[in-house]
Formats: sequence, C-alpha cells, structure tokens
Amino acid sequence: DAGDATVGEKEFRKCKACHMIQSPEGEDIVKGGATGPNLYGVVGRPAAAQEGYKYSEALIALKDAGEVWTVEDLAAYITDPNKFVQEKTGDSSARTKMTFKLNKNQADIAAYLASASPA
Ligand code: HEM
Repeated sequence: DAGDATVGEKEFRKCKACHMIQSPEGEDIVKGGATGPNLYGVVGRPAAAQEGYKYSEALIALKDAGEVWTVEDLAAYITDPNKFVQEKTGDSSARTKMTFKLNKNQADIAAYLASASPA
C-alpha cells in the first residue's frame, strides 16, 4: 500500500519529540528533538548515516549489513525497531536506542519522509 504523505505529515507529530527534519542548509522543515537523528532525506540514505549522531551498535550493524532506507523498510522499522534490526542482521540480541513503536499509519509517515527529502 502506498502511504498518504498528507496524513503522514500530521502523524509525524508523534516522532518530533525525538526527531527533527532539518536541511543541510539549516532550514527547519520540522522543529523537533535531538534524542534521535535528523530525518532529512532519510529515504534513500544508508542506515546510521547522520554525521555526528551516536548510534547504537545495533544500528551500526544494520548499516554494515548494507541497509539503505526504503519506504517499505521505514514502515517496518517504526512498527518494531528491535524486531526489524534483529531480522535484518540475524542477531536476535540486537537492541536499538529507539524504544518507540507505531501500530498504524506507518506507510503514511514513510511517504511523508520520502517527500521531505532532497528534490
Ligand atoms: C532512529 C524514525 C519516533 C528515538 C530512527 C531512525 C528512523 C527513525 C528512520 C533511523 C535513522 C538512521 O538510520 O539514521 C522514526 C519515526 C518516528 C520515530 C518515523 C515516529 C513514527 C521516535 C521517538 C523516539 C525516537 C518518539 C524517542 C522516544 C530514536 C533514536 C534513534 C532513532 C534514539 C537512534 C536508534 C539507535 O541508534 O539505535 N528513528 N522515529 N524515535 N529514533 Fe526514531
């Protein structure tokens, strides 16, 4: 199912306690917290690629496994971050620093994040 970016933009309020969306030029697309990495351009970006952000070992293992974020993988990740990383890395003890899980509108948020990316 293709998500609805307009719905996803509203739903992103659940993410912004921990995530901002800020362009490399410093434009705030969404003002948000810095507990999690900046999500500007995350679709098409390798996992754990935000310069200067201190990722967990689990997210670095995900990057080393070759993960590049797609809308499908983003939707699966936010449904259950630990389960997603465990399945992708084959390490059942992997634990991400993201404790949040979302059980609806995942595809909409993924579509929104794809739209909040470089042209
Ligand atoms: C990581 C998305 C909500 C904290 C990530 C990543 C994505 C993401 C895509 C990986 C980024 C990368 O590889 O550079 C989202 C979305 C959310 C959401 C779409 C809302 C549906 C939250 C919330 C928190 C949070 C509410 C805090 C309570 C984190 C942290 C990481 C992370 C700490 C780093 C994980 C690690 O290093 O293990 N998030 N997130 N996120 N997020 Fe979220």
